Amino acid sequence: MAQLWGGRFTKETDRLVYQFNASITFDRKFYEQDIEGSKAHAKMLGRQGIITEEEAARMVEALEGIRLDVASGALLVTEEYEDIHSFVEATLIKRIGDTGKKLHTGRSRNDQVALDMRLYTRRQVQETDALLKKLLETVLQIMEEHTQTVMPGFTHLQKAQPITLAHHMGAYFEMFKRDRQRMADIYERMNYCPLGSGALAGTTFPLDREYTAELLGFYGPTQNSMDGVSDRDYLIEFLSALATVMMHLSRFSEEIIIWNSNEYQFVEIDDAYSTGSSIMPQKKNPDIAELVRGKTGRVYGALLSLLTTMKGIPLAYNKDMQEDKELAFDAMDTAKGCLALFEGMLSTMKFNKAVMEKSASHGFTNATDAADYLVGRGVPFRDAHGIIGQIVLYCIEKGIAIDDMPLSELKRFSEAFEEDIYEAVSMEACVNKRLTAGAPGKAAMERAIAAARDYLKSTPQISTNA
Ligand code: ARG
Repeated sequence: MAQLWGGRFTKETDRLVYQFNASITFDRKFYEQDIEGSKAHAKMLGRQGIITEEEAARMVEALEGIRLDVASGALLVTEEYEDIHSFVEATLIKRIGDTGKKLHTGRSRNDQVALDMRLYTRRQVQETDALLKKLLETVLQIMEEHTQTVMPGFTHLQKAQPITLAHHMGAYFEMFKRDRQRMADIYERMNYCPLGSGALAGTTFPLDREYTAELLGFYGPTQNSMDGVSDRDYLIEFLSALATVMMHLSRFSEEIIIWNSNEYQFVEIDDAYSTGSSIMPQKKNPDIAELVRGKTGRVYGALLSLLTTMKGIPLAYNKDMQEDKELAFDAMDTAKGCLALFEGMLSTMKFNKAVMEKSASHGFTNATDAADYLVGRGVPFRDAHGIIGQIVLYCIEKGIAIDDMPLSELKRFSEAFEEDIYEAVSMEACVNKRLTAGAPGKAAMERAIAAARDYLKSTPQISTNA
């Protein structure tokens, strides 16, 4: 048990209490951020004359040495320390002696952990943004290749109207684009530095908070020291955005699972992204999509957990806040893992164009267009709707499609039908006549694709000036 305090205590901490209280098993994940923050703090202490420039330089060099040694595995972050902050400080003192004891001047673990968590989360926001961008590129590529791949569009999971695969993918493009926008928003709001907030009330030392903020790539210091140590809004916002990413991935997964089923066969998942059954030799299962769908619950759980933890905490720091880490880390790793795997699955997936097109043309997806045709011949829409409804019923009884009916039969339902009905209800016409902005028609879709391409070109990944 190695801890940073003890002066006012007359008894050793109970071992179970120590373990219950300790966070080293999970906060070692941000050792790099802890060291970066300490380096900035040491530089600032030197620059302000709170310690000498030489002392600051020794600290910075030794801290960098610790970082490299942990990274290479030469130095192990062991559980004998309470948390990563204690580990780094104790190791520094071991390496450079008394000078190391000056590092914590004007600093508290409260502003230290607030900084570490913010730096770590900021990095995660960037990495998530990069993964979303890659996924968007893959989705866009599928859109570009399939502007003429007709498939049924569904409502209530029932065939509704014909669309194209490009159009369907375009819906996901918009979702993941909004997810990226959320990342950028969160980054903008969170990129302020809590270091220098002290335990809660700042410090009597003349710290230069602007300087440490700048060294660490923040826009500036946070405005209120109480809020500085107790704000976890940025983390809640990020978990909420990740929950939304997962919701999108889960919906997409659900569709892929349906499309991959024996009944649909719209897609074939690549062997590298499928799994077999231990007993049924014929099986090729969409486990990756199912796992993505399943893991969504974990990410929702992390969001709910942190919201609940934070809701009862009086200002400023309380130990409850240590609970901001484990589930949040799990959610971040889970979401990133799912994004990467999903992109891999999507980019290797085969789309069965012929099956999709056949499915669209059997299922009365052109019924609305047939009604619209009658409207074009002067039949009021409500009457046209009724006429086509009767035709559909007739076709279902006969097991045929609308365009299988000869003109003479169609005329029995309405005199308004002419020879050009067949062209009007062909799948190509049904899709390509839908030209409202955002619709699947070729010209509209090409405009949407151009806009998507521009968006990806003009929106670089989030970067930090540190
Ligand atoms: N491990 C603690 C956390 O994660 C660090 C801050 C400790 N501060 C304190 N006053 N005990 O929140």
